[in-house]
Amino acid sequence: MTGSVVIAGGGLIGVGIAWRCAQRGLRVTVVDPRPGAGASYAAAGMLAPVTEAAYGEERLLQLCRASLDRFPRFVEEVQQASGLQVGLRTVGTLVVGFDADDMAALQEQHEFQRQLGLEVERLTPREARRREPALSPRIRGALAVDGDHSVDGRSLHAALLSAAEAAGVRVVRRRATSLVVHEGRASGLVLDDGSTESAESVVVALGASSDRLPGVPRLGVRPVKGQILRLAGAGGLLRGTVRALVHGRQVYLVPYGQDRLIVGATVEERGFETTVTAGGVHDLLRDAVAVVAGVTELEWVEAIARWRPGTPDNAPVIGPTSVPGLVVATGHYRNGVLLTPVTGDVVAELLATGVLPDVASPFAVPDLTGSRP
Ligand code: GLY
Repeated sequence: MTGSVVIAGGGLIGVGIAWRCAQRGLRVTVVDPRPGAGASYAAAGMLAPVTEAAYGEERLLQLCRASLDRFPRFVEEVQQASGLQVGLRTVGTLVVGFDADDMAALQEQHEFQRQLGLEVERLTPREARRREPALSPRIRGALAVDGDHSVDGRSLHAALLSAAEAAGVRVVRRRATSLVVHEGRASGLVLDDGSTESAESVVVALGASSDRLPGVPRLGVRPVKGQILRLAGAGGLLRGTVRALVHGRQVYLVPYGQDRLIVGATVEERGFETTVTAGGVHDLLRDAVAVVAGVTELEWVEAIARWRPGTPDNAPVIGPTSVPGLVVATGHYRNGVLLTPVTGDVVAELLATGVLPDVASPFAVPDLTGSRP
């Protein structure tokens, strides 16, 4: 149990934790030079446990579903506390394929989803195009997942930060350079101006950079680069998210705001590097245009690259560490936006009561051999 906490990292995960902790009466400080400028700034905002579900990741699926269940209430609360809208879109998601191999992969995905009892409907091309008339006539079929939604990640971060500050969270716009450990216990952060932020507990929520903060035990988090595009003028083009396999390559199109469209994303193992490449942009646009030809008419807004915090099992790392007083919440990989509500809840519960809720126990910090509980 703790009365004060300092959190390294002001992305969605860090600020989500901060807000929940402040609501429980803790004194909270968030340390981040540019809150929300990392992976949260790039995220497409898909709330997609089902279309992200993969073999061997059933426990992650349960956590994702638990967080999705919390989303409507979470959004309502954040919007009320901040007076800002976050663009929750509950239209559903289509996954389309273009050739026989794509359709075989979708069929396999569908079989796996059905075995898990997930709600997924197989659609003919005609049925898919009835739902999304802008889809290419060349698609060979689709899966419809009505329960996979989306939210505007940047708006959600702005609202969450505003709600957190209104609840008393202090935001220090500086970089944490190391963990302070006093008599074997984490007791604060040293900042890049040499000052120290002290607290009874420390949370590291630095995404892909969590392993780079000196003093933090090794977590096994690595950067997985994603390049992602934003376009404008897409009002009415798509109702909901469309994911596609285009001759074996994955692409997704996520509408948000009045007329915006996100096209994402590359998945690259390139270390700490964020170059936007001609090839990355080309591949995304080529495949997006194959899915929806109308994409060629849209206005260019931006291309950026950020790091997803990847882990060996693609699941987050949440909970206490071998250093007393030090808690981590990182490794959210492809599901950071989706996992924001459940992560905030469980870490606040841990800090307020000393107990990590059961829903998070499979995601505890791996031991030195790298294995989970
Ligand atoms: N959540 C989608 C991605 O990581 O690209």
